[in-house]
Formats: sequence, C-alpha cells, structure tokens
Amino acid sequence: MNPNATQAPPANAGARLRAWVAEMEQLCQPDQVVWCDGSQAEYDRLCEQMVRSGTLIRLNPDKRPNSFLARSHPSDVARVEERTFICAASKDDVGPTNNWAAPDEMRATLRGVFTGCMRGRTLYVIPFSMGPLGSPIAKIGVQISDSPYVVINMRIMTRMGSRVLDVLGDGAFVPCMHSVGAPLQPGQADLPWPCEPDIGRKYIAHFPETTEIWSYGSGYGGNALLGKKCLALRIASVMGRNEGWLAEHMLISGLESPDGEKTYIAAAFPSACGKTNLAMVRPPPGLEGWKVTTVGDDIAWIKQASDGLLRAINPEAGFFGVAPGTNYSSNANAMLTMARNSIFTNVALTDDGDVWWEGMDGPPPAHAIDWQGRDWTPGCGRPAAHPNSRFTAPASQCPSIDPDWENPAGVPISAFVFGGRMTRDMPLVFQAFNWAHGVYLAATMGSEATAAAIGVTATRRDPMAMLPFCGYNMADYFGHWLSVGRRVANPPRIFRVNWFRKDDDGRFLWPGFSDNLRVLKWVVDRVRGRGYAVESPIGWMPRHDDIEWSGLDFPSETFHALMAVSRDAGTAEAQAHGELFDRFLDRLPKEFVFERELLRLRLWRSPEHWALAHE
Ligand code: OXD
Ligand code: MN
Repeated sequence: MNPNATQAPPANAGARLRAWVAEMEQLCQPDQVVWCDGSQAEYDRLCEQMVRSGTLIRLNPDKRPNSFLARSHPSDVARVEERTFICAASKDDVGPTNNWAAPDEMRATLRGVFTGCMRGRTLYVIPFSMGPLGSPIAKIGVQISDSPYVVINMRIMTRMGSRVLDVLGDGAFVPCMHSVGAPLQPGQADLPWPCEPDIGRKYIAHFPETTEIWSYGSGYGGNALLGKKCLALRIASVMGRNEGWLAEHMLISGLESPDGEKTYIAAAFPSACGKTNLAMVRPPPGLEGWKVTTVGDDIAWIKQASDGLLRAINPEAGFFGVAPGTNYSSNANAMLTMARNSIFTNVALTDDGDVWWEGMDGPPPAHAIDWQGRDWTPGCGRPAAHPNSRFTAPASQCPSIDPDWENPAGVPISAFVFGGRMTRDMPLVFQAFNWAHGVYLAATMGSEATAAAIGVTATRRDPMAMLPFCGYNMADYFGHWLSVGRRVANPPRIFRVNWFRKDDDGRFLWPGFSDNLRVLKWVVDRVRGRGYAVESPIGWMPRHDDIEWSGLDFPSETFHALMAVSRDAGTAEAQAHGELFDRFLDRLPKEFVFERELLRLRLWRSPEHWALAHE
C-alpha cells in the first residue's frame, strides 16, 4: 500500500463512514483511496484514464458526443444468479427460490477472498442515493469498488457524490462492498476488463439482517452496480417488508389523455419482455392525442403517503437497458436518450466510430468490430453485439421523462400491470376481480421457456417478476402484498397482460409496441370508472368495442382469438399453480388456496371455449 497516495476523507464524511472505509482499506489493501465527488470533472478524468488503459473506447464525438464503449471479459457478461446469495440467519426466511448461505460462513469466505483483493488498484468510495436526494422514500448507500467503470456507471445510474455525504451526515447507510477480484502483483500489466473468470469464485452476497452487500469477482451490470438489483430490490424488498412498503421490479409511467387527465401505472415484466420499451412508448397512429411519460423503466419503490395513496418513486437516475432490438420504431425515446453522454457495453463498434447492435434501424454495417474486438461482417455467423449488451444513459435525457420523475413525494399509482411471455392460452388483457385475486394473478405469472434439448415448452413462473430479486421468502412476500392492499382504502386496480400470444401458424396475434397503449388506455378507463368490462372465468375483460381502434384495423375475430379462454387449458394452468405453491409449504398465504379453488370453480362452470363472441 502507498499511504502517500491515499486521499484523506472529505470534510463532510461522517465518522461511521470514515471508520468503515478505513476498515475496508485495511482488508483490501489498495494502492490508494479516492473519495468520489460525483463531479463532471471527475467523470471526465476517469473516462480519459480508462481510454488510456484500454477499458474504454471513445466514440466518434460527431456521432455520439461524450460517449464510450466498453468490452467486458467474455466470462463476465450477465448477472450470475447461481452465485447470488441471501445470507439470513434462518434458511426458511430466505425461502426455496433463493440461494441461502449461513451469514457466518459467508462472512468467513468473503473475508478470505477480499483480503488483499485490491492490491495494485485504487479503492473508490462512491456515496449514492437511491431516490431523489432527501426524499423520505430514498435510501443512501456507499459503494466501495476497485472499478473505475463502476464509478462512471454509478454516476449515471444514481445520484452520486459529495452532495450525498451532506445529506447523510453521520447517519446510517447501506454498505456495498465490491471488488472485481483481480489483484495485481507489482509490475503486472492490467487487463482492459479485470474480473475473476472462475464463476465458482464469484459472490453476490446480501445480508438482509445487517443490510450489507458484498460482491466479488464481476464488473458487469447488476453484479457490480450495487445500487440497482442488490440494494434497490433485494435489500430494499426486506426493508419494505419491515417498514410497510414495496420495492418492486416495475416500470412507472404516466398516461395522459388528450384532455390532460394523468394516470400513473406501475408494471412488472420479467427481464427481456420489453419493459424499457413500454416505459417510453409513443402513441400509435390514431392515439396521437395521448402522451406517455416515463418515471422509471426498471424499479419502483412504493409507499403509502399521508393522503392514503400509494405513491411511487424511481430510485434510479439512469437506464441500464438491453441494446439489441432497440431502434427508432421499437423505442425512439431510448434511442434519443442514449444519443450522447452514454456508456455502451458489449455492443459492436462501426468503422465510423459509432455503435451498432442487432435490430438497430437500417441495414447492418458492411464491417464492424464485434463485442469481443474481432472483425465482424454480416453473415459471419456470429452476433456483432452480445445479446445482453447494454447502454447506460441518464434518465434526464429521455424525451418522455415525466415532469415529476424527481418529485420526492413520488407519483400516485392507480394500476398495477403484470405480464409474462405466453404464446398460448393467456389473453391480451384482463382485470383482477379484487386485490387478493390480483396478487394471486401477479404471483402466478410466468413466461414460456423451451427446454431446447427436448423441445418441451413449460411455464417458468416468475412471481411479480421478482424471482431473482426478492430478498426474503416469497411466501412472506405474497403475504406482504396482501397486507398492503388491506391497508389502502382504494388500492390500485390490478391487471394481467400478454403481448405474445400466437395463432396456430405461430404468428403473433397482437402487433405490440406502440399499440400496447390501446390496452393501457382501457386500463385507464377502468381505473377511472368509465371502461366497460365483461366477466370471464379469469377476470374482467374488454370487448372489442371497449378498445380504441382508430388508426388500426384489427378484426374482432382476431381480437376474440386473442382473448379466448379454454376451460381445459385454464384448468391445467390452475393445476400448475400448485407446483409453485407447494414449494412454500404451509408458509403460503391461505388466500392463495382459496383463490385457486375459486378459479377452478369458475372454469368448471364455464363453456369449454369461453370467448367474448358469446356476449
Ligand atoms: C435488468 C434485468 O437488467 O431485469 O433489468 O435483468
Ligand atoms: Mn430489470
């Protein structure tokens, strides 16, 4: 260690924080310590330093001002769920859907791997706020990391730097310890993307009882930007349970009608179902008078306010979106958001110094450098961008950003929307009969997954899209949802949607993308008490006439095919819910047992093929 290079803590750093940083410095033995102030000058300096070291490539400033490309190590391209642990004292409190580790054992393991892990590197202290600074809903974390790439991403994704220390004072913060796990011997040359390539030596560990996060071995996304999935979902879900609020894997958007009435919804979809696209959707032809505004694209913290309403904030300050498939027709607002001041990871580099990925507008470039730095031409048989390549872009640059996106009080939520990816049997949209039924619908949502080797399709359940992100036993989480509804006088209405149903020839029945706003308009009509609906065995459904079709010729027969409910398929689905529920044994809320019986009964009494055409 070179103590001369170590920066003294800034004057506004509280005593608790200083003590923790000193302890971690001793453990990790970095060459120097840098306290991040969050300034533009600091950001620019780090980017420049990473351009020199080969971690970043500066993109053509005429095409993509102040933007950079990073290429990760091929072993470090996604979240590592199998190495993600919840370390609570009791295994039962973690539940069957999380990896449990005994806190003492994990602590001993982490002490081992973290000892000396920052040799030859700089330890950065990154104070950050999840949520607008000073909001009663916000939480402060401090990440220690040896990755300058993490520092610059955290500056986009969170409110970061010295102003956080002013708000924190000597108060409590969530300590977030991170190392890429690649100490350098004296004289050893660094790699552009240092990490621990052995998956068995990566750890993403959460200690809910002491609200601590320890992440070792990866520099990528949710493994390394600890404010996002680790703090804002896994740790915050536990805080939410303890304090009576919800930390959810949800987008938040505002739907404004032509006469200026604004309705906010929060919507949960598993990863890779187009959540960012929906959060920024532009109205389709025929609905031009409508406006969709974006509060957040990934995470919502939702609390009952003193006015009794459930209000939500987006704890993040940026978007960390999947690049492939993003283009001006799927998501023009995302494309405009990342037009400058953005970081791209694992996309392709074009010959004119810009970025490219599969599914971008226009023809593919004749030549590019792929995400692994190799020459790429169309038809070479390899994707140019990694399927999980990402853009990191400031939310403030989003053309559809909501005027209230930083309102510390949050925005009032009128509806929760839950959707998976189902090619068969699951209708386009329906509304829950009541809160408990809605929680049941959310808990049983899922997406079809095909076991490629045997070609069998099964539904992979992802309750509330929180399966990888709930920091405690999901049975208790369902119970928490039920109790939140009991405390709110007029709880938000709950809806299920499915944009992905196909016909017998395998063609999508629904155009999706901007036309999804037609469905959301019906959702708004319902919560405003003016939308009509028909009772089906699975919930309230719109008739063809209840959807706004101007600008789209959508035959009522196709709509009926999209909305049909098969008694046998529905009954099989209800049966399959049992497989999920059985995992939770007697911790499962009793309400779910009743809801399942009611569902079976309604299906049993329904015609074999229940369809809106009958109305
Ligand atoms: C994400 C995810 O990156 O859900 O947001 O995986
Ligand atoms: Mn997500």
